[in-house]
Amino acid sequence: MRAADLADDLTDVLVTEEQILEKLEELAARVAHDYAGKDLVLVGVLKGAIMVMADFARALPMLVPMDWMAVSSYGAGTKSSGVVQIRKDLDTDLHDKHVLIVEDIIDSGLTLSWLLENFTARGAASVEVLALLRKPKSVKVHVDVRYVGFDIPSEFVVGYGLDYAERYRNLRDVAVLAPHVYS
Ligand code: PRP
Repeated sequence: MRAADLADDLTDVLVTEEQILEKLEELAARVAHDYAGKDLVLVGVLKGAIMVMADFARALPMLVPMDWMAVSSYGAGTKSSGVVQIRKDLDTDLHDKHVLIVEDIIDSGLTLSWLLENFTARGAASVEVLALLRKPKSVKVHVDVRYVGFDIPSEFVVGYGLDYAERYRNLRDVAVLAPHVYS
């Protein structure tokens, strides 16, 4: 569904489906150039990254394997703990592979920084990141992100894979959730 069909739940539309698809085409061309002749594997982080992975992988002008990881933060009970638990591990052996992590959003950066270290420890030849969205003002730990779609303000955004209590993931656009929905 489109943001216009959910007008009561949303305030601003930050990125439309059309803008997302155009950006992913652009990033796919860069990635294809950068990884020509290399043993590349895409790793999506469930569940938010499913839409980005589906559209980005199909925009790539080369065949590429896709694998998935599901993680969750625990420890202090908040995402800010930076301690990550693997809920579903990869099926792929990353040894000597060039890994591109595909993410929907970088908020604090804690999930990614943990994944980068973890994949490097598995013997990957290289580990880089593609993220559709980044909230620069929310970053707690710096992560080098080679491919970024859009920098956005630190607001509660949903759509295109991003949820609030598992809702809105199938919204085609990325939009700001109206405060009355979650307060
Ligand atoms: C989101 C997103 C990233 C992570 C980013 O996942 O998909 O994986 O948070 O946050 P960080 O930069 O602060 O670590 P979430 O835990 O909401 O799970 P989901 O993808 O299943 O919705």
